[in-house]
Amino acid sequence: MIREEVYKFFADYIYKNTGMVYASSDYYRLDSRINELVKFFSLSSPDELYSLYKKEITLDMRAILINISTNNETYFFRDVKPFTTLAKKIMPEIMTLNPNEEIKMWSAASSTGQEAYSMLMCLKNSLEDSAFSKMSVEGSDVSTKALDKAKAGIYSGLEVQRGLPAQLLVKFFQQLEPEKWQIDLSIQKKAKFYEFNLLTGLFPSDKFHVIFCRNILIYQDKENKIKILNNLSKSLRKGGVLILGSGESLVGLETNLQSCMYDDFTTYKKI
Ligand SMILES: C[S@@+](CC[C@H](N)C(=O)[O-])C[C@H]1O[C@@H](n2cnc3c(N)ncnc32)[C@H](O)[C@@H]1O
Repeated sequence: MIREEVYKFFADYIYKNTGMVYASSDYYRLDSRINELVKFFSLSSPDELYSLYKKEITLDMRAILINISTNNETYFFRDVKPFTTLAKKIMPEIMTLNPNEEIKMWSAASSTGQEAYSMLMCLKNSLEDSAFSKMSVEGSDVSTKALDKAKAGIYSGLEVQRGLPAQLLVKFFQQLEPEKWQIDLSIQKKAKFYEFNLLTGLFPSDKFHVIFCRNILIYQDKENKIKILNNLSKSLRKGGVLILGSGESLVGLETNLQSCMYDDFTTYKKI
């Protein structure tokens, strides 16, 4: 039995630190997370956990709570179109506009790294080596657990079967064990992963040519969506492109981004 006050404390903390909203009617969705924390700290009840967190939240306790609360669902080449459009349409245009420049991309809620690595694999597959050598991707997330996995670049058999075409598995992965696959160093060295909170982080100005920020805004309320989108826009270079998740759009949100179609695929550019 979890008391209302305990639910509210954790729901408020998760909202402040990730933007994810747990309305009181959804508090039951916190049950497994709270119970997991009780077990992790070898406590006997949610009330004891509440007392522990109310007293002081150390950096480790914060990381554990955030790691447990976030939904890190992701897979290689999720939705396919963002990656084919990046390689076939967006990147050729960016390279023409920025010849000789290093092309910087950002996977702004990268989870365990599949999105950033998919961007790099499809670019390596479609560009000349000299062009690919100028590309890099930064991957960031609030979940330190997800980031550790992204940095390691090691995936299970099940994970490499989700979305990754067989020829890319053969080309870009080395099988370490029957159920363990390591991404190739030529891809891994082009990706840099670090902790960054889209609600509280200090966004760099005019840095990125391409930003993928997918399947995170759906968890945010309107105010946070607008705040994140305007900050992402600040981080885009002139002519830079923002790509959102398939269920996400700017409808009803006031931002300084303008939709830009590549065939039937919608992206957003800084006005
Ligand atoms: C559902 S995953 C999406 C991963 C990937 N972008 C994709 O579309 O496959 C959402 C990610 O957003 C991260 N996240 C949640 N709140 C965040 C925040 N405030 N700042 C940065 N990342 C956040 C979560 O940790 C999680 O890894």
